[in-house]
Amino acid sequence: MTDGTNELLNEVAVYYSNRLAQHGQTAAGVDWRDADSQILRFDQLLTLIAANGPYTLCDVGCGYGALLDHISKLKHSVRYVGLDVSSAMVDAARQRFVHNPNARFEISSRPDTIVDYSVASGIFNVKLGRSEQEWEEYLLETLDMMNEVSTRGFAFNCLTSYSDTHKMRPDLFYADPLHLFQICKSRYSRHVALLHDYGLYEFTMIVRR
Ligand SMILES: C[S@@+](CC[C@H](N)C(=O)[O-])C[C@H]1O[C@@H](n2cnc3c(N)ncnc32)[C@H](O)[C@@H]1O
Repeated sequence: MTDGTNELLNEVAVYYSNRLAQHGQTAAGVDWRDADSQILRFDQLLTLIAANGPYTLCDVGCGYGALLDHISKLKHSVRYVGLDVSSAMVDAARQRFVHNPNARFEISSRPDTIVDYSVASGIFNVKLGRSEQEWEEYLLETLDMMNEVSTRGFAFNCLTSYSDTHKMRPDLFYADPLHLFQICKSRYSRHVALLHDYGLYEFTMIVRR
């Protein structure tokens, strides 16, 4: 990882630690509008997973661990690692799941082990003061990483460039879904699904091996 990326991730960590301090362990504490949309995103991402057997999962940008709450209800047999650059988020998640022997949380942006699947919900949205080009380079670097560490596939979401123009904000990054579809198809796998039909101003990309 370059010094530039480290600096960027430090800024991201400060931003989300502040959100957590302001709003606590809630959807708003990880910058979502509400819990329903947070879960709707998880359901899109989890279409990646063939849950008919045990699997390992890395949740990049896990926040306080809301995805693990959701997966626990689905009764999947999963060994889970949650990563977050915000130490406050990781502290909160560790406390919440202290009794779950199949889960661990690390302050990091890259897993220390190979996993079956990795997912990322919401990590590409807030670009703070970064340029479009700088943020896209960081996004692609992160996708390369997810591809490298995931043997069965990975999934992520982004705000869409097909949002209503008058609602778009300069501090957010709106990705072109077609451009990213093309990149995922040509770089990572023949099996790519673009989900852009779930009623939010965003899309989910599923990359299967
Ligand atoms: C929008 S919040 C979503 C949290 C969680 N995925 C959820 O949906 O409840 C994004 C989280 O990802 C973390 N984050 C952002 N970029 C990251 C990266 N590259 N690596 C690890 N954590 C990251 C932030 O600190 C923040 O806690």
